[in-house]
Amino acid sequence: MLLWLDRKEYKKIVMDYQQRTSLQDKVAIVTGASSGIGEAVARLLFQRGARVVLFARRTDKLQELAQKAVAEGYTEPLLVAGDVRNPEEVEGAVQKALERWGRLDIVIANAGFGYRAPLVDGDIQRWKEMLDTNVYGLLLTLKYGVAPLLKQGHGHVIVTSSIAGRSVNPGGSAYSASKYAVNAIAEGLRQEVAPQGVRVTNIAPGSVTTGFATVAGYSDEVRAALQRLQPLTSEDVANAMIYALEQPAHVDVSEMVVYPTRQVNQGAVTVNQQ
Ligand SMILES: NC(=O)c1ccc[n+]([C@@H]2O[C@H](COP(=O)([O-])OP(=O)(O)OC[C@H]3O[C@@H](n4cnc5c(N)ncnc54)[C@H](OP(=O)(O)O)[C@@H]3O)[C@@H](O)[C@H]2O)c1
Repeated sequence: MLLWLDRKEYKKIVMDYQQRTSLQDKVAIVTGASSGIGEAVARLLFQRGARVVLFARRTDKLQELAQKAVAEGYTEPLLVAGDVRNPEEVEGAVQKALERWGRLDIVIANAGFGYRAPLVDGDIQRWKEMLDTNVYGLLLTLKYGVAPLLKQGHGHVIVTSSIAGRSVNPGGSAYSASKYAVNAIAEGLRQEVAPQGVRVTNIAPGSVTTGFATVAGYSDEVRAALQRLQPLTSEDVANAMIYALEQPAHVDVSEMVVYPTRQVNQGAVTVNQQ
């Protein structure tokens, strides 16, 4: 194929490639790394030679992931057991990254979960846990994670939102509210840090096959409806994240929406089907 390009076109392709941001030796923290999208992006980061801090509450899952990484010959990740709702634990994870590797380049603020119910039936404790995790936990991750990037004058933040942050359906108001908040926070952050050379990407996946449906307590009927859509895999979403991270430093892919091809909207998940 390249044989048919003239010299100028060939040179441009090579230069574009050379300008790509290499993830080799970059230091990244991934929240929600114990399963699903966070685990998948951590794996892709290992493969690209990044040094990764894995943050989540389930240490057994983090250990499994770390052991595999070492067995495959990648840099041993740093495991930090913690809850994004706990400021000391989030700040501690960032400090540990700085102590181990002297800097931080990438923050993947991905931890979160869904819970759906009609408003009048909502479990008030579950609402609080979800809003504390998806919104307050995100704020904490950004507060402590972004400071080192600003100090360095470069870095990249990826925030996991959802298509639920772009529309609402019955039973989904609380989860959607949390993801609309994620969008506001990501855009506010982008405007604050862009002049200082820090990029922010907000990614909104449609349905993804992860632990999400189990945590959200979806019925078999809803799961079957989602399966019929041929949902995304965690790797599909992680690949989109890597695409944004590898762009040249002057390119900020600020928003990405990734749907399974057959998914029209959130319709498969309504409260009537739970
Ligand atoms: N799956 C989907 O269809 C879908 C679609 C759009 C957006 N999303 C978003 O994608 C993100 C990742 O979810 P997923 O689909 O990959 O589901 P998942 O497999 O259930 O992963 C969720 C991750 O978040 C972590 N987490 C949850 N609460 C936490 C807390 N308080 N502190 C620290 N970590 C916490 C979990 O780890 P521990 O339990 O070990 O702490 C786990 O690693 C979420 O923000 C979710 O809203 C998912």
